[in-house]
Amino acid sequence: MTSVPPSVKPDLDRQLQRQSIWLRESWFWLLETKVLCEYVDLRRKPTALDVGCGPGVVMELLEELLDIQGIDIDRDMVDACLSKNLRVKEAAAEELPFEDGTFDIVYCSFLLLWVKDPVKVVKEMKRVSRRWVICMAEPDFGARIDYPEDVSVLSRMITEGIRCEGGDPLIGRKLRAIYGHCGLEPDLGIHQGIWSLDKLRVESEAEWKYIEMTVAPERKGIELDKAKLAWNDALANGTLFQFNPIFYAFGHKLPLAPHMDE
Ligand SMILES: C[S@@+](CC[C@H](N)C(=O)[O-])C[C@H]1O[C@@H](n2cnc3c(N)ncnc32)[C@H](O)[C@@H]1O
Repeated sequence: MTSVPPSVKPDLDRQLQRQSIWLRESWFWLLETKVLCEYVDLRRKPTALDVGCGPGVVMELLEELLDIQGIDIDRDMVDACLSKNLRVKEAAAEELPFEDGTFDIVYCSFLLLWVKDPVKVVKEMKRVSRRWVICMAEPDFGARIDYPEDVSVLSRMITEGIRCEGGDPLIGRKLRAIYGHCGLEPDLGIHQGIWSLDKLRVESEAEWKYIEMTVAPERKGIELDKAKLAWNDALANGTLFQFNPIFYAFGHKLPLAPHMDE
């Protein structure tokens, strides 16, 4: 996914909004407990770069805590950010147009699954960071659990769909290895993701929009219809279960630099 196909853009925006709503609490907690506690004496917000910022959903959410700029390779995404008065540049994650150590924090979310060489991207993020190199969220669809049995095919179908689009659906489990190749030892974890039945009822329609957008066209046949029927039955009789692990990785470079006294 070097740039997002036009047909996918309206749905992508909705999906990114959903993701940031699920993850908001977890992101705030992680940033406050792991990162921002280092900057309490700073008389400004820590500076941050959002790499592969998309339409700026995460930047809007985190600008309360951070002084953020973004980059994205897709012109439409850059324009969407500019229309919201966000600071953004059109650039590739593999070649960030910034000097070494420009930002206190460099982060990405739902980016590494779409790039050809995630190690190159994380190395580049490390280069332009003074301190923190954070992967806020990367999924692992191979570890997705759905119940009942007829719904459990979704993990395989979504995994294949993402591979067909050139993505890596198993990126979540690779974060330690990717960071390790960049000389970083991150704290890794999974965002809490078990939905209540009420939340599943509310999310069901949007989740199926995402599934139908992601599953490879040639697989959108009887198997998917059967899975949707089984999903709806299980939702109605209260037995549906869905869990998709979304991983995070918080890595840092060096002891705190003297700029902390500014
Ligand atoms: C799934 S979206 C995630 C957007 C945003 N980070 C979020 O979580 O809401 C992935 C974004 O990464 C961008 N992207 C993909 N490959 C890129 C690359 N090599 N360099 C910069 N941006 C890239 C896409 O254009 C898209 O906007």
